[in-house]
Amino acid sequence: MKSPQLGFVLALWLKSAASIEGSGYSNATIDVDVAIIGGGSGGIHSAIQLKDAGARVLVLEKKDQIGGHAETYINKETGVVNNIGVSVFEDTDVVKRYFARLGVPTSSVSASPPSTLYDFELGIPIPPPDEGAQQAILAAAKAYSQNVLSKYGWLDQGYFLPDPVPEELYMPIGDLAAKYNFTALLPIMARFNWHFGNQTKVPALYGIKDFGPDFLRSTFGQLIVSGTGNTRSLYDAALKELGSSVLLSTTILAVNRHSTGVTLLVSQNGMVKTIRAKKLLVAIPPTLQSLKSFDLSRSERALFSRFSSLGYFTGVARVPGWNSRSLANVGAFTPFHQPLIPGSRAFRATGTPDEFYFGVGFPTDQVADEDGKAVVRRQLATLAEAGAIPAAAGDAVTFSASSFHMPFNVRVGAADIKKGFYAELLALQGSRNTYWTGAAWAGHNSALVWKFNEGTIVPAIKEDLGLEHQLPLSWNSHLHLTPWMLTTISGVKH
Ligand SMILES: Cc1cc2nc3c(=O)[nH]c(=O)nc-3n(C[C@H](O)[C@H](O)[C@H](O)COP(=O)(O)OP(=O)(O)OC[C@H]3O[C@@H](n4cnc5c(N)ncnc54)[C@H](O)[C@@H]3O)c2cc1C
Ligand SMILES: *[C@@H]1O[C@H](CO)[C@@H](O)[C@H](O)[C@H]1NC(C)=O
Ligand SMILES: *[C@@H]1O[C@H](CO)[C@@H](O)[C@H](O)[C@H]1NC(C)=O
Ligand SMILES: *[C@@H]1O[C@H](CO)[C@@H](O)[C@H](O)[C@H]1NC(C)=O
Repeated sequence: MKSPQLGFVLALWLKSAASIEGSGYSNATIDVDVAIIGGGSGGIHSAIQLKDAGARVLVLEKKDQIGGHAETYINKETGVVNNIGVSVFEDTDVVKRYFARLGVPTSSVSASPPSTLYDFELGIPIPPPDEGAQQAILAAAKAYSQNVLSKYGWLDQGYFLPDPVPEELYMPIGDLAAKYNFTALLPIMARFNWHFGNQTKVPALYGIKDFGPDFLRSTFGQLIVSGTGNTRSLYDAALKELGSSVLLSTTILAVNRHSTGVTLLVSQNGMVKTIRAKKLLVAIPPTLQSLKSFDLSRSERALFSRFSSLGYFTGVARVPGWNSRSLANVGAFTPFHQPLIPGSRAFRATGTPDEFYFGVGFPTDQVADEDGKAVVRRQLATLAEAGAIPAAAGDAVTFSASSFHMPFNVRVGAADIKKGFYAELLALQGSRNTYWTGAAWAGHNSALVWKFNEGTIVPAIKEDLGLEHQLPLSWNSHLHLTPWMLTTISGVKH
């Protein structure tokens, strides 16, 4: 893209580069060990870990707040807090340690708040699972655990797939369920995952990644929530801790990776800054759109171009007379009773009687807020006609807060998984002084992102910076670690 603005940027770039060459540093030049692009779940967690290891870090976040998908709506009249993005966490040591590190209390909740079940598309009431159906779900969870997690539980650590990739990992999750007799678990998987995608099509790799051993245990047991009721407390504490090591409202203008480090040109409030870092950690979705200001190599471009993603629209809406109802969507006639996509997962009570939380899944990320609102209105009208909610709810609804979370579930297709996409992707780690983290690398689940940071990315960066001369603790527990993974990820250069 040639534009006058680009010419301006390049002129500044040359000017700041010249000042780096000269004796003095311009005020706009910042030197750090690790520049982290993206101040969401993965970026902030790694920043804290690296800071604790003695590295100088700088987080560059495009929005005016950190925390990524962790967004909160607070009702001004009632003061009731609602997490409209990230709300619950797997009950694991990684999660507890991170909250404790930031001094944020935690508490536990059960995964299944009581809801009335309806097919939101057809307006049909669905009876709750009876004793037999509940037994079938438990049996399916056991079959899944014994037949699938026993074999692939290591996926929790990251996409360290064996070569060749087993066919079981790229067949649709629905087919794997039929093969191993856990079909009765699929509705639970769809319901407790933040917009999963169509289970007749999504490769089993992602199904297992989204429902790993810790998630299964936590879903049937207890999940962790912020003790303040507000997930953003974690990010308020992190921001305090990181202080001036976070630049908010920052746009990445250019990324230049060279043999001795990385130079970034960024703008913040109209000021241009040059950042020189030994290492770059990219903690934003690795799509070509997100990385457009990067100096992508041909292989990076080829890999990232394979990704596609889903759209997920969430928020809080108001309907007079809603009366604290909680309804969950179940497909009466769809495969595995999955709620039809596009469609809502649930309309859930918020604690403010007239308001409810909604989450609407879309099959692509080519959608806008109006598309999301239209689905909510349409399904409210259907439910109103069925007598489940106040009449005219579809017309009466107003939106108190909403957010489109895109790109969500950044994934590749079965053919790419089969061809060894993830081995090639992981081989990028550490090359060109660049590391990568976040949901596309670790799963759309904060606990897994933090596990990947702790087990793989942070140890590798520390090793690379000479901050620690040990191999990461989790090396031996990786069941499928090939020698090239050791060399690329531990930063031992070939
Ligand atoms: C609605 C919703 C609810 C969810 N709920 C949960 C939950 O309850 N529990 C859970 O564990 N997981 C949940 N998830 C999964 C969630 O995706 C992960 O937990 C986590 O947010 C992924 O971390 P990340 O670092 O990859 O991305 P994010 O947390 O999204 O962070 C990416 C950050 O990079 C910034 N950014 C993007 N582009 C640029 C750029 N060019 N320059 C600078 N900054 C940029 C973004 O603004 C953002 O702050 C939910 C996801 C969604 C969408
Ligand atoms: C940096 O800013 C300070 C105070 O604003 C000023 O005194 C100093 O001369 C500046 N240095 C450079 C190299 O621009
Ligand atoms: C599959 O699971 C169901 C219960 O969900 C059980 O009745 C059936 O016997 C199981 N079949 C096999 C082959 O294990
Ligand atoms: C998934 O896709 C199949 C085939 O296109 C379709 O029949 C089914 O209804 C879809 N499921 C959902 C939940 O949308």
